[in-house]
Amino acid sequence: QPCLLLGAPVDSGKRTRGCLMGPAAYRVAGIAAALESLGRPVRDLGDVAPAPLRPATCGNPVVHALPETVAWTEALSAAARDAIAQGFPIFLGGDHALSLGTVSGVAAHAAALGRPQFVLWLDAHADMHTPETTASGHLHGTPVAYLTGRPGFDAFPPLPAPIPEAHVCYLGLRSVDPAERRALAAAPFDAQDMRAIDETGIAVPLRAFLARVAAANGLLHVSLDVDFLDPAIAPAVGTTVPGGATFREAHLVMEMLHDSGLVTSLDLVELNPFLDERGRTASLMVDLTASLLGRTVFDRPTRSFAA
Ligand code: ARG
Ligand code: MN
Ligand code: MN
Ligand code: MN
Repeated sequence: QPCLLLGAPVDSGKRTRGCLMGPAAYRVAGIAAALESLGRPVRDLGDVAPAPLRPATCGNPVVHALPETVAWTEALSAAARDAIAQGFPIFLGGDHALSLGTVSGVAAHAAALGRPQFVLWLDAHADMHTPETTASGHLHGTPVAYLTGRPGFDAFPPLPAPIPEAHVCYLGLRSVDPAERRALAAAPFDAQDMRAIDETGIAVPLRAFLARVAAANGLLHVSLDVDFLDPAIAPAVGTTVPGGATFREAHLVMEMLHDSGLVTSLDLVELNPFLDERGRTASLMVDLTASLLGRTVFDRPTRSFAA
C-alpha cells in the first residue's frame, strides 16, 4: 500500500491566512523521506486544485469565503475518493475546511465497498457548527456537521455517504461553543474532552474506540488538527487553546493507531507555517505521521531547533 501525498492548500476556512503554505512546509520538513525510511513506497501527487468558483450564498451574512470552500470541497472529495482506491492518502493541509472534501470522499469509497467509515477527530474543537450556527463565520469550524449530514449545507455538494455520529470519536476537546455543545449532547458522538483524558489517560478511550472500529470491520480516517497539541510544542496554528495533548500523549495515540492496523486515510490540518518557530511544528507533525506509519519510540530522531 503506497503512501499518497496530496497537498490541500486550503486557506478559506478562516480569516487568518497562512495555511496555504502547509503542504510546502511538510515537504520541506521531509515527510516523504520519513515515510520512505519506514519502508513505505511514497508517491507525491502534488497539490490538488480547487474546482472553478461558482456563486454560492447562504442565509448567514458572517460566513467567510463560502464559494472558495465549496470549490475545495468539490475537488478534494473527488481527489480523495480516487486516491483511497490506490493507496493510503495523506492530505497535507491546509485548514480544517479541507475535511469537508477529504472525508466525504473517503466515506463515499467506504460506502461503495459496503464497509462502515469511522473518523477519529484529534482537535481542541468540535468543528460541529453549520453555516447557519457559526458566529465566527469560519467554515473550518463546520466539517463534522457536514460529514454527519446536518442541515444547512445547501451550498455544498450533496453528501454522498453521511457518517453516523456514533462512528465519530473526538479526543482532546477543550473549546466547544454552546451551539456545538447542544449538537454533541443530542447525538451519540464518542466525545472525549481533555478532562476525561486527564482522568483516565488517553489510551483508555482510544482503545475502546479502536475495538469498536475493528468489531465493525470499519475503515478509519484520522483528522489531526495541530491545535490538538499543546501550544507549547505546536505553536504554528491560528487557534491555540492551552492544555492540549503532550508530546508523549500524541505519539502514544499515533503508535496505538499504527498497532491497530485500522487507519486507512489521514488529514494533517491547520498548520500555519507563518506562525512557526524554526519549523518545529511542521517537524512534529511529520514525526507524528511517522509514528502512525510505524516508527517506534527508539527511532525518534534527535532534533535541535536552537538558534
Ligand atoms: N468554534 C470556533 C469557531 O467556530 C473555532 C473553530 C476552530 N476550528 C478549527 N478547525 N480550528 O469559529
Ligand atoms: Mn479543527
Ligand atoms: Mn481545532
Ligand atoms: Mn464557533
